[in-house]
Amino acid sequence: MCGIVGYIGNNAVDEILLSGLKSLEYRGYDSAGIALNDNQGIDVFRAKGKLQNLTEVIKAKHISNRQVSQGIGHIRWATHGEASIENAHPHLSNDGKLVLVHNGIIENYKELKDELIKQGYHFFSQTDTETIVHLIDREYKRVSSLEQAVIRAISMLKGAFALCIMHHDEADKIIAVRKNAPLIIGVGKNENFIASDIPALIGKTQAIIHLEDNELAIVKKDSVVVKSFDGKILNKPVETVNIAQDAISKQGYKHFMIKEINEQPQIVRKMISTHMSSPQQSIRFENIDIEELIENIDKIEIIACGTSLHAAQVAQYMIEDLCNINVTVEAASEYICKKHLTNNKTLSIGISQSGETADTITAIKQAKEKGAKILILTNRPDSSIVRYAKYVLPLNAGIEVSVAATKSYTAQLTALCLLSLAMAEKQKNTNPEQLLPIKQELLMLPTKIEEVIYSSTTIKKCAEKYNGYKNFFYLARGINIATAQEGALKLKEISYINANSYAAGELKHGPIALLDNNMPILALLPQHSKTFEKMLSNCEEARARHAHLIAMTNSEINKKELFDDTINVPEISEFLSPLLFSVPLQLFAYYFADSLNLDIDQPRNLAKSVTVE
Ligand code: F6R
Repeated sequence: MCGIVGYIGNNAVDEILLSGLKSLEYRGYDSAGIALNDNQGIDVFRAKGKLQNLTEVIKAKHISNRQVSQGIGHIRWATHGEASIENAHPHLSNDGKLVLVHNGIIENYKELKDELIKQGYHFFSQTDTETIVHLIDREYKRVSSLEQAVIRAISMLKGAFALCIMHHDEADKIIAVRKNAPLIIGVGKNENFIASDIPALIGKTQAIIHLEDNELAIVKKDSVVVKSFDGKILNKPVETVNIAQDAISKQGYKHFMIKEINEQPQIVRKMISTHMSSPQQSIRFENIDIEELIENIDKIEIIACGTSLHAAQVAQYMIEDLCNINVTVEAASEYICKKHLTNNKTLSIGISQSGETADTITAIKQAKEKGAKILILTNRPDSSIVRYAKYVLPLNAGIEVSVAATKSYTAQLTALCLLSLAMAEKQKNTNPEQLLPIKQELLMLPTKIEEVIYSSTTIKKCAEKYNGYKNFFYLARGINIATAQEGALKLKEISYINANSYAAGELKHGPIALLDNNMPILALLPQHSKTFEKMLSNCEEARARHAHLIAMTNSEINKKELFDDTINVPEISEFLSPLLFSVPLQLFAYYFADSLNLDIDQPRNLAKSVTVE
């Protein structure tokens, strides 16, 4: 949700900023811009749409022969004001000397803007960000120090902000500020970098300083000084991150999404072997004492958004089934607007791939304030949400670039399955022998996912056959309702198809009115489920209304007259079926979108890291 970068040093500033922004493109692509500061003044280059448009604007201006030594850049996911050049960052002060980029939202910008307009400031955009520029500029004119002006201005801001700020009269520094939006400093030799996220620094430096909330950094070519908002110097550790360049390259795949789908067997295999040395042994998590985790707990609540919320819904079935503990699942954005009965007997589990989702962070913060124990599952153990956690379960799925989550979902499901087994093992009334078949079957899961991926030609053909339809139903029952929701979400977000999922039994209570021969249905039919026969009856009901039916199943259903097409899935128990069925659903959505020639990795209106509430 917006990405920002900064660079100060002797190398080609524009190229460094553009390559940094390229790696952050998953955070937004409504517009892009950079500002360069040199002895001739500050120059701003901006373009609507993707980064490529900005690259062309810059190429046309032939700026490469200038002696620039500092710059900042931004890619935008529009919040205040449409996607346009005027609303693109960086934003300049009226005298053209101060410039900044911003990720976040300023909640009190309206009052500040009215005050600044009264004081004679002119606004050229509809953004909340422009308020910050004029506010700092006003303070600069009072105190003649960029650092002091920034400190004074940010004390007046409410909301979330990561900022990079430059001033023409203090061209030896960039000031980086963090409050409720991620920001890191990359430490180099005679050069330093600022970025919203690590991918922007890959290939440039491995030495990183993580800024925390309410901290700012004065970044010069040969020094970085971090201070708290009240001006105290902080001694921050420089950490080493080791991420290979190929972690953020497509490695020959057409899209990141298909590359990431293909990575799943390996991720699942590694996760299982990390936590389960053999089915006969207890499952273990480094730094999580499961006994302590569930001690004195009478309720578990799982909080997440989007795809992570679907993983939470699957976990609810798993934990209730194996552990007999009451589990509730809540969309983070809803959790924060209602009274909830969280207390010190609650275990609150937050699930977030990015660890930066604002809704989930706020909800988890609230749960913690009510005394809950906090466990976080995240793919980014260095992310903001982790600071509220007593326990952290890293997903280790590697950087996920495609906006549509795939490998992180499968990693979440695998981790949650292992967690539910580990909790069950610690329950007094569980017989470990009951868990053995699940643990044995879990070992076979990576190979089964591989089998699905090998059979993707059939899935591709099926997706291409249905790519003319504008609406889709996904039907399932029980533990796979969330799988159907996730499958429909994948199709929705990358194909722009109105795909909706229903608990199959609910069809007859309303949605069946929508069925005719223009409504294909993808039905999830894991054979060994308690509701297999009922699912078949629901499919019959749909068929009677002329809907086209695709069966996704591991059964040899011989019902040619019922199903138009079948996507076969390897044999699997109902308990583990969500971990397997999600993969053909990802492939179905991928090939559907690809056959329509759509921008799969960067679907319209979306961004990977949703850092606004
Ligand atoms: C969909 C998708 C989103 C995210 C959601 C939460 O493919 O990726 O629905 O799952 O925005 O993000 P995290 O998991 O980072 O909190």
